[in-house]
Amino acid sequence: MTIKELFNDYVQDLQTYIMFRIKQMASDLKPQLDKINRTPIFLSMGAPTQNPPEFVINKLKEALTIEGIHTYSSPKGEKYFLDAVKIRMKNRFGVELDSNKQIFSLIGSKEGIANIIRELINPKNDEKERDIILVPDPGYASYKEMVKVSGGVGYSLPLTKDNNYMPDLEEIINKLKSDGYDEKKIKALIVNYPNNPLGVGATREYLQNVVDFCKKRNILLISDAAYCDMYFDEKDKPISILELEGAMDIAVEFHSFSKPFAMTGWRIGWVCGNEEACSMFGKLKSTIDTGIFKGIQYAASQVLNSNEGEKYIIKANEDFKIKQEIALNGFKELGWDFSQVNIPNATFYLWLPIPKRYKTSWDFTCDVLKTSGVVLVPGHAFGDYGEGFFRISIVCSEEKLKEVFKRLKDDGFYYNK
Ligand SMILES: Cc1ncc(COP(=O)(O)O)c(C=O)c1O
Repeated sequence: MTIKELFNDYVQDLQTYIMFRIKQMASDLKPQLDKINRTPIFLSMGAPTQNPPEFVINKLKEALTIEGIHTYSSPKGEKYFLDAVKIRMKNRFGVELDSNKQIFSLIGSKEGIANIIRELINPKNDEKERDIILVPDPGYASYKEMVKVSGGVGYSLPLTKDNNYMPDLEEIINKLKSDGYDEKKIKALIVNYPNNPLGVGATREYLQNVVDFCKKRNILLISDAAYCDMYFDEKDKPISILELEGAMDIAVEFHSFSKPFAMTGWRIGWVCGNEEACSMFGKLKSTIDTGIFKGIQYAASQVLNSNEGEKYIIKANEDFKIKQEIALNGFKELGWDFSQVNIPNATFYLWLPIPKRYKTSWDFTCDVLKTSGVVLVPGHAFGDYGEGFFRISIVCSEEKLKEVFKRLKDDGFYYNK
């Protein structure tokens, strides 16, 4: 027996998260890419590369000398953090929350989503016996893996041009049944608008349908709102699922500081919404971790409702819009046809079909990496419906982005050729 065999079947099956595998691949290739003047440019991770607001950095420095700041935090979150979230949810979305019962701090929203999934699923070996979570496809690459490693099934909700990225849920149930699964095994449904990797939003009417659907079937609705503050036009401003009628009965929403404030490495976020779900969640969290460093909570809570924070978000979105223009022009010059492709009105992603001459998205992204040193993500990483596409995160500087298109042109990465 090997040490590996001591680990459970789900973990043995698991692969390292795709973004880290791609990063490793690019780092391994770096010496040879440097030699051909193609030092890797990373457009793979959905991680802003600019600094967080100076204001929050200063608040963290200030926190370090506050008496008692270095001791264990409460797993739920410090009162000042929970109160700041309460104010944010009220001011930004008009959502009223009880900061004691309906908000819980997270070590990043990824941790929270993984843990709530784990709490919902009773692990089973037989696939058809497993609990089911409905997940967007294409969707955040971690969802299906989180479900799998918890012993459940992540069943795809296809987001396609044909359904305008808002799948008909009753149709999905019929398909699920015809695939031999039991609809009673569905524990939760994940929505993620604005969506990673597509950059698409959903209408209020559609989201209300999703709430009604979950209520009717007694399914937990998990809204991943990581990109709710990344949009280019007021008319496309994302809503919170918790604004909708009946949502508080069945929904929780996950929020992040990573994308709006470029605080990816700080690892802080929150979950809020349905009281019972928050309290069940809290039981697990208080057992397996002891909360976030109070200094981080202090600084994060200060930026959340500040003018500095708001200005930062507006400026970051303006900058991403400029970079989106650069990227769209770059791809147009390379032959991509934007009458056929969705132009995102939110997030810092572009989701594009691979050039005609490639069979798979993996072949294309590997070729681009090895030839041009441009690090992209193959569409299949985001689900079965992602094959044939690739994702680009326009997170580097404008200068580097222009360099990307120069390289792609010089190296002949045209859509039709
Ligand atoms: C859709 C989505 N949800 C959650 C996360 C995780 O964010 P956090 O840094 O808050 O864990 C990401 C990060 O890329 C994401 O794209």
